[in-house]
Amino acid sequence: MKIGSNSMDPFLNMVNISKSFLDVKALQEVNLSINENEIVGLVGENGAGKSTLVKILAGVYKADQGKISIDGKDIYFNNPQDAKKHGIGIVFQEQSILNNMTVYENLFLGQEKFFLNFGVLSKERMLKEACEILAELDIDIVPTRNANTLSFVQREMIEIARNVWLARKSNAKVPIILLDEPTTALEQNDIKFLFQKLNELKKHTAIIFISHRLEEIVTLCDRVYVLKDGKNVGCFSKDDISENLLRSKMVGKELVGEFYQSSMQRKAGEKVVLELKGCFNKHAFYDVSFQLKEGEILSICGTIGSGKEALCKAIFGITKFDSGEVYIDGVDVKGSINSPMDAFNKGIGYIPEDRRNEGLILNLPIFENITLTVLKKLKSHGMVSRKKQFEVTEKMVKKIDIRSASIAALCKNLSGGNQQKVVLGKWLLSGNKILVMSHPTRGVDVGAKQQIYTLMREMVNDGVSLITMGDSFEEDIGLANRIIIMKDGKIMTIIDANESKPTSVDLIKYIV
Ligand SMILES: Nc1ncnc2c1ncn2[C@@H]1O[C@H](COP(=O)(O)OP(=O)(O)OP(=O)(O)O)[C@@H](O)[C@H]1O
Ligand SMILES: [Mg+2]
Repeated sequence: MKIGSNSMDPFLNMVNISKSFLDVKALQEVNLSINENEIVGLVGENGAGKSTLVKILAGVYKADQGKISIDGKDIYFNNPQDAKKHGIGIVFQEQSILNNMTVYENLFLGQEKFFLNFGVLSKERMLKEACEILAELDIDIVPTRNANTLSFVQREMIEIARNVWLARKSNAKVPIILLDEPTTALEQNDIKFLFQKLNELKKHTAIIFISHRLEEIVTLCDRVYVLKDGKNVGCFSKDDISENLLRSKMVGKELVGEFYQSSMQRKAGEKVVLELKGCFNKHAFYDVSFQLKEGEILSICGTIGSGKEALCKAIFGITKFDSGEVYIDGVDVKGSINSPMDAFNKGIGYIPEDRRNEGLILNLPIFENITLTVLKKLKSHGMVSRKKQFEVTEKMVKKIDIRSASIAALCKNLSGGNQQKVVLGKWLLSGNKILVMSHPTRGVDVGAKQQIYTLMREMVNDGVSLITMGDSFEEDIGLANRIIIMKDGKIMTIIDANESKPTSVDLIKYIV
């Protein structure tokens, strides 16, 4: 195994790249190379340095040490504009598409100078070039459409097209597209669509692809680099890649035990902690009835638009039930849950899907974020005890393996996955008896996923009841006692997963 070297000089070569943030060594002498017509995967645990590495390549951060060369020539960047001149563009998860503008205006955002005719912006020329690049990349989106009507994956395609166009305009030999977890927020069909497009795109570009879903890496990538603690620990070509190999390299050891910790699964109790009867929301779901038992994991499956997200939000008081009955521990609560605060006071917690925006106060440190739901309990003499705050934080940080130099680190400086874990930790600490979890392991690395599953099992065995929407059918099936399947706003069926586990095929037939 050789890291970052080929018999011929690679098209793009990063050698000995190091980067520190104060006392955090994010990257240490890392190598990575990429060639035209190649999709290179980048994997590693949360905080391994993946985003930092691609941000250096995109000119967002400056490396402390190391060299980058393209086509044998050393290149130096001071900002993203410099990187763009070399054909390098990044698609961030926090997308940079503006909602109140058209597709073609978004395509050329910041590049209007190319379309000036004697100082006047030529919208016709923009539109013409937009049509050309979209047609060339076979992206079937009308350029005059308003961006707020686009799906997530369509927005990603616009960002990719923008980077390819700019690379061409800069006379870069090969556009280099950097994709940092582009599939995290996508449904299966959109992932399939994106992969098809990336496979077409690689015929005239080079692509770096970051994902925590190892099956995606195995399917898509021609070569894969594994980072661990800011260092290279392996580079494998397509023929050698397997999920198991990547997993063990990432974690540094074989993961032991069954992934979803099914051996810890217990039958739910008899007590009904939450009951919905004939619940209805005029925009999202109809006639929804089910019971959640004490110590049960109830998964809700369905596509976007099935109504599952809106249902979960209604349970936590974010959206509303237009009619129907809701009972907690047998008491009718529908009239009294009108906000998340009401739901919280009734013992319900909610882990949102978009944790960076909805779940975190980015400018506060880990310990303040994680203890937000338990401040009352941490008071002594009317003041929140810092000592207690530190104690409970340290314990949770250890339990779900939040990687950070200190619990006083600001959340904005944590890696994406570690931010996810802080929000998760906050709700796990809350002591709420019913937790609604929207994609609890999204963006979290494979080792930490298993830790979260263990924690969920421990919680239900202590009598907490969970409603989850997982990231895959496998996760829903692996974890749940029962699985609710929703389609077009209705419950199609409820499948038992206590005694024997259904297969994905058993679920899919109700969903499509
Ligand atoms: N702006 C910053 N300030 C301080 N520390 C940072 C900053 N950006 C990243 N780090 C730290 O650098 C390390 C690497 O982070 P990075 O975001 O590259 O990880 P990652 O591999 O992308 O992880 P994830 O899978 O969670 O997204 C982490 O310890 C992170 O906390
Ligand atoms: Mg990252």
